[in-house]
Amino acid sequence: SRVVKLAVIPGDGIGPEVVAEAEKVLGAVTAGGGTRFEATHFSLGAARYLETGDTLTDADLAAIAEHDAILLGAVGGVPGDPRLAGANIERGLLLKLRFELDHYVNLRPSKLHPGSKSPLAEPGDIDFVVVREGTEGPYVGNGGAIRTGTPAEVANEVSVNTAFGVERVVRYAFELAQARRRALTLVHKTNVLVHAGSIWKRLVEEVGAEYPDVAVDYLHVDAATIFLVSDPSRFDVIVTDNLFGDILTDLAGAVTGGIGLAASGNINPEGAFPSMFEPVHGSAPDIAGQQKADPSAAIISVALMLEHLGMTDEAARVTRAVEEDVAARDGSPRTTSEIGDAIAARVQA
Ligand code: NAD
Ligand code: IPM
Ligand code: MN
Repeated sequence: SRVVKLAVIPGDGIGPEVVAEAEKVLGAVTAGGGTRFEATHFSLGAARYLETGDTLTDADLAAIAEHDAILLGAVGGVPGDPRLAGANIERGLLLKLRFELDHYVNLRPSKLHPGSKSPLAEPGDIDFVVVREGTEGPYVGNGGAIRTGTPAEVANEVSVNTAFGVERVVRYAFELAQARRRALTLVHKTNVLVHAGSIWKRLVEEVGAEYPDVAVDYLHVDAATIFLVSDPSRFDVIVTDNLFGDILTDLAGAVTGGIGLAASGNINPEGAFPSMFEPVHGSAPDIAGQQKADPSAAIISVALMLEHLGMTDEAARVTRAVEEDVAARDGSPRTTSEIGDAIAARVQA
C-alpha cells in the first residue's frame, strides 16, 4: 500500500484548531483505503518564535521538503504584538516556504455552495478559480529603506516580474481554463503599473495564441473588485499577480459565504517540491482558542491536496461532505470540532 508523508504545520491562533479537524477528516476519508498518510507535526509560527527565537531553520526547511505534501493551518501572532516586532513570521516562515519550495501557482478556488450565505442579494452561480502567482511580484522583499524615522525617509518595495515566472503561471492558468469553462481573465493595473503590466499583458497574449479556444478578458484590479461583487458569476479563471491575488481572494471568500470556507493550494506543478495546502484565512487572534473558527476552509484544503495527489475519489468525498454540511447549516452555533465531527461522519457515511 502507498504511504504519503505529510508535513503538518498547525501554526498559531485558530491554526491548530482547524488543522485538528482537517486531520480528522483526512483520517476518516482514508480509513481502510489503500493509501496511508504518515503525518509529522512541525511546531512553527509565532508561538515557536517566542519560545526559541527561530522562525524556519535550514533544518526545518530540509525536513519539510522531504515530505510528499504539506498541510498548514495559519501562522502569525496578534498584529502589533511588540514581542514579534523583530520577527516577521509571515515572511520568514510562510513566504519562505512558498519561495523555497517554488510554489509558483497559488490556487484559490471560489465556489458558492448551495446553502452557504453570500452577503450579495443575487450572487448567481459563483464558481471561479484565482490563479495567483506565488513566487514573485511585490512579495519578493526587493526593497529597502533609508534615513528611517527621519523626515527624509525613503522606503521602497519593488515588484519583480520575470518572463520565466509570469509565463509559467499564465500557462498553468490557460491549461486550467481549457479544462473548465474556457474563459480567462487577466487582472492587473496596466494603466499605472506599466512595466509589470506590459509583461503580463504580452505573455497572456503570446501564451493565449496557443489556446485559441480560451476566451481572454482583461480587467484592472479596481474594476475587478466591482465585478466580484456585482457579477461574480462572469468569472471562470482569473490569473493575477501575487498581491492582487491576495486581496481578491479574501474578497472572493467573503462573497461566497465567508472566509471560513476559502481554501488554497500552493502548488509546485512539476512536483520537484511538495505542494502546500492551507486555508486562505489567517490565525484570527480575535477568535483563537474559543472553538469558534469554521474548519471548512482547512478541510477543503485537504480535498485540494487529495486531488493534487491523484486521489480523486477521496477528494470528491471530502468536497461532497463539506457541501452537504454547508447545505444543512441552519445558523445554530457549532464548535470547530462539532463541524469537523459532522463532516467526518458524512465522509464515512
Ligand atoms: P484573519 O484571516 O486571521 O482574520 C480576519 C477575520 O476573519 C477575523 O475577524 C477572523 O476572526 C475571521 N476569520 C478568519 N478565519 C476564520 C474562520 N476559519 N472561521 C471564522 N472566522 C474566521 O486575518 P488578519 O486578522 O488580518 O490576520 C491575523 C494574523 O494572521 C496576522 O498575523 C496575519 O499576518 C496572519 N495571516 C496568516 C495567514 C496564513 O498563515 N496563511 C493568512 C492571512 C493572515
Ligand atoms: C495569505 C496571507 C499571506 C499572503 C500573508 C500572511 C503572508 O495573507 O495567504 O493570503 O499575503 O499571501
Ligand atoms: Mn491573504
